[in-house]
Amino acid sequence: MPLSLEITSRTLLDCDSEVVALGVTESPLDKQKALVQLDEALDKKLLPHAARMKFTGGSGQILEIVTLGKLPSSRVVLVGLGKVRGRGLDAAGLRAFAATAARQALSAASLGLSLPEKAAGPEALRAVGEGIGLGAYRFSKYLTGKRRPESELGTAEVLRAGRPTPAETKALQLGLRLAGAVALARDAVNEPPNELTPEGLAEIARGISKRHKLKLKVLDKKGIESAGMKLHYAVGQGSRNEPRFIHLTYAPAKPKAKLVFVGKGLTFDSGGLCIKPAPGMGEMKTDMGGAAAVLALAEAVAILEPKVEVHVLVGAAENMPDGNAYRPGDVFGSLDGKTVEIINTDAEGRLVLADALAYARKLEPDLIVDAATLTGACLVALGKGCSAFYVADSKTARRFEDAAELAGEQFWRLPLIEELREQLKSDIADLKHTGDRYGGSITAALFLQEFVGETPWLHCDVAGPVLAERARGIYPKGATGHPVLTFVSFVESFG
Ligand code: BES
Ligand code: MN
Ligand code: ZN
Repeated sequence: MPLSLEITSRTLLDCDSEVVALGVTESPLDKQKALVQLDEALDKKLLPHAARMKFTGGSGQILEIVTLGKLPSSRVVLVGLGKVRGRGLDAAGLRAFAATAARQALSAASLGLSLPEKAAGPEALRAVGEGIGLGAYRFSKYLTGKRRPESELGTAEVLRAGRPTPAETKALQLGLRLAGAVALARDAVNEPPNELTPEGLAEIARGISKRHKLKLKVLDKKGIESAGMKLHYAVGQGSRNEPRFIHLTYAPAKPKAKLVFVGKGLTFDSGGLCIKPAPGMGEMKTDMGGAAAVLALAEAVAILEPKVEVHVLVGAAENMPDGNAYRPGDVFGSLDGKTVEIINTDAEGRLVLADALAYARKLEPDLIVDAATLTGACLVALGKGCSAFYVADSKTARRFEDAAELAGEQFWRLPLIEELREQLKSDIADLKHTGDRYGGSITAALFLQEFVGETPWLHCDVAGPVLAERARGIYPKGATGHPVLTFVSFVESFG
């Protein structure tokens, strides 16, 4: 049963949802009106209990209380919001709060979410809708018997004083639908690699195309070969699960800009002949996280209908060792025309992307954006919570940072250091595809840059967050849709 959402002017004291949630800031608890009212309804036992439990409203703190008949709801969840400045929670804060509350109420039938009066306007309510949807996500498809969740959250009621405007009501529902788009990416990342093959990614694209009447082109192994995408072909040639190239188009009338998003879609990355060590290899089913994000973006864009033309490209393949696999020492041409000497078959993502970027360029967009779980070096540099992005133009960098902030997601700009390009020189071909040990995320970006020509381009290495978010089938803070929501805000900033 899908989750249903509504906004009402009931309060924590008269809401009969199974669980009610209240955000509490890190300031004196006895000065917070809603909390004091709740305390009174609970015979003034709540605030002393909170003090005993050392609940101060700090960010990430959660306090759950059973109401034992004192209130129409059976559980109250206090969610710590941390220190909140004057204007109250911003969109990212509201999204995170709603997500935490929904996650806390996952096994309940219904949730009442109390919002401060200040949380008004379509932007705030959209963030709340997104947060509830994101927090309620779980991946339980492969659980059977007792492992199957017995119940799921069926309704969420947003409690806020003052009648909602029609725009607010619409924005709340829109937020929930956008969380549904993000769930598409999460499902794909969680799906095991025996189930989600390159053809599986094409199937997801077909679903999006059918639901929203978007134009779709899918190239199979032969099609990739005849298109001249020799690098993509080489990466996929060692697997029985043959490669696919996917192109989805959203084209409104009179667009204000034309953007192309490119995703790395390695449905499994064993490393190929340069095989990875066994520990952690299974995590490489997530190596299509970039592809999942841009496909989810296509779904989101079709829902939002911005005045921006958006193309979504996915280079899908499986990197396997085999008698037919590509090898270190091989030299291949590319769609762009440049020749590439293969150094390490585990640096497969940049090869698939190189051809997809050359393809993107031919669409003559205002900007190409790619997303890829590209390097372990990026994980080492920024950790699991933050993605790297690279872009030459500082104005575009700022626009992207603003989008990430609205989405509540972490991105850090890294530099395209020209001196490191030396490392990509080959004796036998135009380029080597890897450099030496140091600056690994940067040399990967410099390699990609060789294939975009003069077209403005922004590259995201999302290795950390994709891995972290998959870990428990959920997002740890329950609040982000990394990097889908950043991409959504970024697209909207052009429309
Ligand atoms: N998919 C990996 C990058 C990766 C590693 C993502 C760990 C998430 C977690 C990529 O294809 C890869 O193997 N990169 C190599 C490149 C190296 C051989 C130059 C790496 O980073 O070690
Ligand atoms: Mn690899
Ligand atoms: Zn990879």
